[in-house]
Amino acid sequence: MSETIIEQLIRPEIRALKSYHVPDASGLLKLDAMENPHAWPGALMSEWHEALAKVEANRYPDPSASALKAQLRTLMQLDKLEQESGQNLDILLGNGSDEIIQIIAMALANSERGIMAPEPAFVMYGMIAKFVGMPYHGIDLNEDFSIDIDTFVEAVKAHDPALIFLAVPNNPTGNVFELADIEQIIEASNGLVVIDEAYLAFTESDLLELCAYHDNVVVMRTLSKVGLAGLRLGFLIGRPAWLSEFDKLRLPYNINVLTQTSAEFALQHYDALVAQTRELCEERTRLFNALMQIDALEPYESEANFILVRCTGKPAKEVFEAMKASGVLVKCLEGAHPLLSSCLRLTVGTSEQNAQMLEVLRASL
Ligand SMILES: Cc1ncc(COP(=O)(O)O)c(C=O)c1O
Repeated sequence: MSETIIEQLIRPEIRALKSYHVPDASGLLKLDAMENPHAWPGALMSEWHEALAKVEANRYPDPSASALKAQLRTLMQLDKLEQESGQNLDILLGNGSDEIIQIIAMALANSERGIMAPEPAFVMYGMIAKFVGMPYHGIDLNEDFSIDIDTFVEAVKAHDPALIFLAVPNNPTGNVFELADIEQIIEASNGLVVIDEAYLAFTESDLLELCAYHDNVVVMRTLSKVGLAGLRLGFLIGRPAWLSEFDKLRLPYNINVLTQTSAEFALQHYDALVAQTRELCEERTRLFNALMQIDALEPYESEANFILVRCTGKPAKEVFEAMKASGVLVKCLEGAHPLLSSCLRLTVGTSEQNAQMLEVLRASL
């Protein structure tokens, strides 16, 4: 049979891809995607709706979202970091940090110099490498999920990647990499290193200053995990020389008017979100301790809003299916990477949700 026009035109690596699958969570307790389980407190909810009522949806949004960027500068104390380091820093906004990963990859796309990340890692790094036609080099972590630094540095020298992603804390393992290892990778690299701090709100680690003191580092953050996943707002902080190049690839108006208005409002009331994330950190400790008591489970300590657990009795897929049949959706990582064999990733929910999840988990083992 002759090739169809689709087979002729669509790149083979795209045809070989599977679309990113988001499972249907209707009717289920959703603990699979690291969302904040809390809505905004009642009084804020009505104020937010009032702010939204004033939005002019017939007009394009502010293309540079300058008011929102000014708020983010204040939140992150960028002026202070600029003064201390003597280095100017800018912000680039994306429709989620996923879009920022894509923009950076498009800007650096090169069929010889690829993308590198420790594995297991956030799946989008590898997927976006394929989208833009870059080789992807996943370098296995140690069994305790720390970076195997000698192997990683050797791989950096051998492959000379254009782009390295380091998620700190890492998804799906939840741990924070050693600063000395991160610095060694930055020093060894002739490419750009993106420090992905998606889970910043749940850890003591804060690596923002690396982008001020190293000319090959940018730092990426998001509002998704602090309670605003539906807005889709990610941001990149870095030297103007990098960000002005990336900005050329950003589609105009990528941050819609509802997101700009809502994020501006949320940042004015950031304390409320911080209080929720603190509570989730306490819940994480309680959940971890409860998981430790269960014989057929091996939980890993986490500095994010999820906990990775290994099922030592039944295969994780069976546990996952049994939990789903009982109304609780978590993430099954079976098959994602050899280091994740028989692992589930549990998003930390409210205390009631965690109690329900634990009950169902115990019954499913
Ligand atoms: C490490 C990491 N980076 C980035 C993202 C994407 O976040 P966003 O919702 O901002 O696109 C995720 C989402 O799970 C993540 O785990």
